[in-house]
Amino acid sequence: MAQIRLECRNVAKRFGAITAVQNLNFKIADGEVVSLIGPSGCGKSTLLNMGSGLDPASEGEVLVDGEKVTKPNEHVAFMLQKDLLLPWRTIRQNVEFGLEIRGVPASERKAISLELLRKCRLPDFAENYPHQLSGGMRQRAALARTLAVDPAVLLMDEPFSALDAQTKMVLQQDLGRTLAETGKTTLFVTHDLVEAIALSDRVLVMSQRPGTIIEEIVIDIPGRENPMERRKSPKTGPYIAQLMSLLHIGEEVH
Ligand SMILES: Nc1ncnc2c1ncn2[C@@H]1O[C@H](COP(=O)(O)OP(=O)(O)O)[C@@H](O)[C@H]1O
Ligand SMILES: [Mg+2]
Repeated sequence: MAQIRLECRNVAKRFGAITAVQNLNFKIADGEVVSLIGPSGCGKSTLLNMGSGLDPASEGEVLVDGEKVTKPNEHVAFMLQKDLLLPWRTIRQNVEFGLEIRGVPASERKAISLELLRKCRLPDFAENYPHQLSGGMRQRAALARTLAVDPAVLLMDEPFSALDAQTKMVLQQDLGRTLAETGKTTLFVTHDLVEAIALSDRVLVMSQRPGTIIEEIVIDIPGRENPMERRKSPKTGPYIAQLMSLLHIGEEVH
């Protein structure tokens, strides 16, 4: 098996008397894209916060490349629904922000950011400001910024959930291609079942709170770099049905 990049060992998180997640155990190998789905409030964001080092686990440990995560660090990058671009910086300056903090020289920063903006299909917007871009373009810029620091692991918390359905499909396509090109190890949280199937090698399904992983589904559809084609695969429907059943979606409808 390829090198394990991200691992949760018996992880639990409590907020006072509330246990948000418990008995979390899973491994993600180098280059894998894994989606995490589960009912609202089951602890998906809690898990990513622990993975990013923003919030400590109450029990167990989260490991990146075998090292326990104890604080935010350069090995893990986090992308959220909100793009968090700095409005007073151009798109290129936003992409370069993390590199600047690390003291990467300006010429090198520029080369990296322009290459990533090309990959994320924003080559002509490097010198524009965030407010001049559409929501979809801003999320592509946020992806470029996330990739700029070349993290070992990418954590994404519903990054496309604020976008309209068609923009979202375009962004999924961009992400699928970019993840294939860069080989980034990714844990992707979504409530969109088709998005999870289209983008991932595996889908982890969580229970209601206290959230724990109740099922792992390997997505056996070729061409992960092309989510639009994967959506259309005859195998997608049965995977959706399986996920709906695990999540009890539609059971209250008669
Ligand atoms: N900082 C916090 N303090 C108290 N409770 C929290 C905090 N963060 C999350 N929770 C609780 O933990 C549970 C899981 O939340 P969250 O991880 O945001 O769920 P999800 O992302 O799956 O919708 C929820 O019941 C939420 O109210
Ligand atoms: Mg959440």
